[in-house]
Amino acid sequence: MSNYHIKSFEEYFQVYRKSIENPKVFWEEIAEEHFTWRKKWHNVLSWDFTKPEVKWFEGAQLNITENCLDRHLSTRGDKTAILFEPNDPNASAEHISYKQLHERVCKFANVLKSKGIQKGDRVCIYLPMIPELAVSVLACARIGAVHSVVFAGFSATALSTRINDCDAKMVITSDGSYRGAKTIDLKGIVDDALEDCPGVDTVLVAKRIESDINMKTGRDYWLQPLLDDAYGDCVIEIMDAEDPLFILYTSGSTGMPKGMLHTTAGYMVYSAYTFKNVFDYRENDVYWCTADIGWITGHSYIVYGPLANGATTVMYEGVPSYPDFGRFWEIVEKHKVNQFYTAPTAIRALAKHGTELVEKHDLSSLKVLGTVGEPINEEAWHWYNENIGKKKSPIVDTWWQTETGGIMITPIPFSTPTKPTYATLPFIGIQPALMDENGKELSNNQVDGRLCIKYPWPSMARTIWGNHQRYKDTYFSAFENMYFTGDGALRDEVGYYRITGRVDDVIIVSGHNLGTAPIEDAINEHQAVAESAIVGFPHDVKGNALYGYVTLKGSGEGRDHDNLRKEINQLITDRIGPIAKLDKIQFTNGLPKTRSGKIMRRILRKIACNEGEQLGDISTLLNPEVVQDIKDNVV
Ligand code: WT7
Repeated sequence: MSNYHIKSFEEYFQVYRKSIENPKVFWEEIAEEHFTWRKKWHNVLSWDFTKPEVKWFEGAQLNITENCLDRHLSTRGDKTAILFEPNDPNASAEHISYKQLHERVCKFANVLKSKGIQKGDRVCIYLPMIPELAVSVLACARIGAVHSVVFAGFSATALSTRINDCDAKMVITSDGSYRGAKTIDLKGIVDDALEDCPGVDTVLVAKRIESDINMKTGRDYWLQPLLDDAYGDCVIEIMDAEDPLFILYTSGSTGMPKGMLHTTAGYMVYSAYTFKNVFDYRENDVYWCTADIGWITGHSYIVYGPLANGATTVMYEGVPSYPDFGRFWEIVEKHKVNQFYTAPTAIRALAKHGTELVEKHDLSSLKVLGTVGEPINEEAWHWYNENIGKKKSPIVDTWWQTETGGIMITPIPFSTPTKPTYATLPFIGIQPALMDENGKELSNNQVDGRLCIKYPWPSMARTIWGNHQRYKDTYFSAFENMYFTGDGALRDEVGYYRITGRVDDVIIVSGHNLGTAPIEDAINEHQAVAESAIVGFPHDVKGNALYGYVTLKGSGEGRDHDNLRKEINQLITDRIGPIAKLDKIQFTNGLPKTRSGKIMRRILRKIACNEGEQLGDISTLLNPEVVQDIKDNVV
C-alpha cells in the first residue's frame, strides 16, 4: 500500500524516510497505484548530475490527458472539473464538467491537427485566464504538441523572443482580455510580435471582448467556427515518459529568459501527488489557486495536479481589486472554496484595505490556505491566519520554482506544525542541502547557506530548451553533484527551512521573477542613456520593487528628468511588460565598478535599501568617488 495521502506528522516522517531510503521503490508504488499507463517502465530512475541527465519511468508510455480527463469519465463525468469565474462579477460562473472538458479538449486537439500541428511541434499560447487557456494546454498535451504558455501581461517583444526561442509554429490567442474595468488588445500585441516571427504560420483567435481586430488572411482563424466543426473525440497520442510536455520561460541572472523543459511522466506523478497532499484535497472539495496559468503555479496547481486527481479547480479571470478588494472573499463564499492558494503580494495588498471587506463574507468553507512565490513576512502571515483562516486553517507556505515543476518545501496541513515565515520541511522525496560559499555542506541545524537539492525528484526540469550547456552552468556547476536553486535559506533548531531570498541577480517583484539584465538592456536602448544598473529594495506590498541607477550620455545637463523617467518606463513596458517598471530612477554621474569594470550591485543595493552607511571598504573600487555622489542624491 502506498501512502498517497499523509494524515499525521508521524506518518509524514515515516513516509519521508521511506522515500529517501528507497526512492525508486517509493515512486514506483505511487506511480503504479494512482495513474493510467499504456505501458509500464523498465527503469524507475537513472540519473547523473554531472551531465546532467535525469530520466524517470523510462520505457513507460502514457498520455497525461488520459490521466486528467478520460479516466475520470466513468466515475466523475458530471463532476465540475473547471469552475470558471469571469472578470465581471455579474456574469454567471461556468461549471465545466469532466465530460464537457474532455469533449472541448478533444475538439480543440482536432483543430490543432487540422492546422498541421504534430507530435513534438511547439505551440505558443498567449491567452487570458479563460477556459480556452486550460483547454488549449490540454489539447496540445493530447496530441503530443509541446505547449509554451506566455503570460498575457508580457509585451510584444517578450512574446516574440519566446516564440522564436522555441520555434513555435502556431500562436493561440484571443481578440483581447479583461483586466478589471479595462480591456487589453492582446491580438494587437500578437500582431506586433509576429512581425519578427517568420516561423509562425497559424494564429487561432478566441473571441472574448468582441473588439474589432485585424485578421490576416491565411494566417489568422477564429477559433469557434473551427471548434464547431470539429469531431468531439480525439484519440490520445501515446507518449514516452521522457517526451517533452511543455516549455515555460523563466528569468535568469543574465541574457535570454530560460525555456525550462518539463517532460511527461515524472511531472504528472509529482504534480498530482503534491497537489493531493499539500492541499489535503478530498473528493468533493472546491480548490482555488489565484495564479495565472502563464506561470508554473498555474500549470501544476490549476491544471495538471488538480485534474489528475479529479478535483474541481477554480479559474478566475480577473484581478483581486475588481470591482473592489473584497472580490476574492466574495468568490470564496460564492463557490464555497475549501483550499485557497495565493501569493504574499496579494495578501499584503488585500490586508492594506482592512478587514471590513473580509467580514462581509462567509469564509467558513476554507480548510487550507496556501502561499507561494516569495517569502511571506510575519505580518502578512498573521493577517492571513487570523482574518482569512480564523486561526483554524493551516497555512502552507510552499517553496518551489519553475524549474522544480512542483512544491519542494512545505508543511503538510494538519500534520506539520506551522511557523510564520517558514516553509518548514521538505516534501516527500525531496533532499535539500545548505551549502557554504566554499562548497561544503552545512549539516547542522541553526545554519544558513545556499539552498541545493541533492537527489533527483520526478518533476525537475530536464534541460533549458536549446541550451543544455546553460542548464548545466546555471544549476549544476556551483556545487558538485547538486542542483543549485539560486536561493538562500536558513535551517532553524528543529530543522525547519526559511527561504531568505535570491542570492543571484534575479529580483522577485510581486511574486514575479525578473532578471536584471533584460531590464537594463531595455533602458540602455534609450538614446540618452550611457549605462544603467537595477537593484531591488523592500516594498510593503510588492515585496521588492525596482530601483534603477541610470547614467546619461554627455553631461546630462539640462535634461528633463521626469520626462526621461517616463520614457525609460515606457521602454521597459514595451520590451518586457508593465510588471518590470521601475519604482525609482536615480540619475547618476557614474556607477561604482571593480577594477575589472564590473558594476558593484552590492553597493547600489545597500544604498537603495537605505543601508548606505554600511558599505564597508570601498577604496578598492575603480571609482570610489561616485559613491558619495550617489548617496547624496538618492530618490
Ligand atoms: C522563486 C521561483 C513556483 C512558484 C512561483 C514562483 C521564490 C517561491 C517561495 C516561498 C520564499 C519563494 C524563490 C524561488 N519563492 N516560493 N514560499 N518562500 N520564496 O516560481 O517564478 O520560478 O520563482 O520564487 O526565490 O527561487 P518562479
